[in-house]
Amino acid sequence: MAGSLEKLLPSSFYFSFFLFVCVVGAAKTNGFSRDITPTKIGLRRERLSHLHFYFHDSLGGPNPSAVIVAEAPATNASKTLFGAVVMMDDPLTAGPELNSKTVGRAQGIFASASQSEVGYLMVLTFGFSHGKYNGSTLSVLGRNTIMSEVREMPIVGGSGLFRFARGYAQAHTHSLNFKERAAVVEYNVYVFHY
Ligand SMILES: *[C@@H]1O[C@H](CO)[C@@H](O)[C@H](O)[C@H]1NC(C)=O
Ligand SMILES: *[C@@H]1O[C@H](CO)[C@@H](O)[C@H](O)[C@H]1NC(C)=O
Repeated sequence: MAGSLEKLLPSSFYFSFFLFVCVVGAAKTNGFSRDITPTKIGLRRERLSHLHFYFHDSLGGPNPSAVIVAEAPATNASKTLFGAVVMMDDPLTAGPELNSKTVGRAQGIFASASQSEVGYLMVLTFGFSHGKYNGSTLSVLGRNTIMSEVREMPIVGGSGLFRFARGYAQAHTHSLNFKERAAVVEYNVYVFHY
């Protein structure tokens, strides 16, 4: 029986078939990854959300929300404070007043990364604490030239309701308090997520 089949099919056919079985078998048994459908992890319809809130940052005053954690020997001599690294834990509110409804916090780092203008590298998460977004986060990584009227920073990801997030944040300075080295910044965030 086998002998007559061998006559019909060239041996290269058996070899190809053998390779095929090995490759498929390896993918099924030895792999650490597999294809799944989006619905398997609850992803149904991609949506676009617009979030609007105010960010309160203060380096001075009685209760600073941001602290300088590192600087270069030349930072003080630089007109853009090049090299200063600041850690923030800034409240986010629904309205421009600090005592308006808290919707989350901006936690992370801004660092002076330009020698020619005041331009920060922003590396932070918006952690939301309000309503259905409570516990969900958005990750921001971008450039913030604070003297510009509107600065745009990419949203590079998210968690919770913002899984697979991508989008952008636009920041606009609402008010400054030089005595307390504080700023209120209005944010409009546009984000695709599921
Ligand atoms: C920069 O100036 C501040 C305030 O005058 C001072 O506290 C700090 O030590 C200085 N930093 C350096 C690296 O010289
Ligand atoms: C947000 O979630 C935390 C932890 O689950 C909970 O303790 C808190 O009360 C929630 N806040 C709001 C405003 O829903």
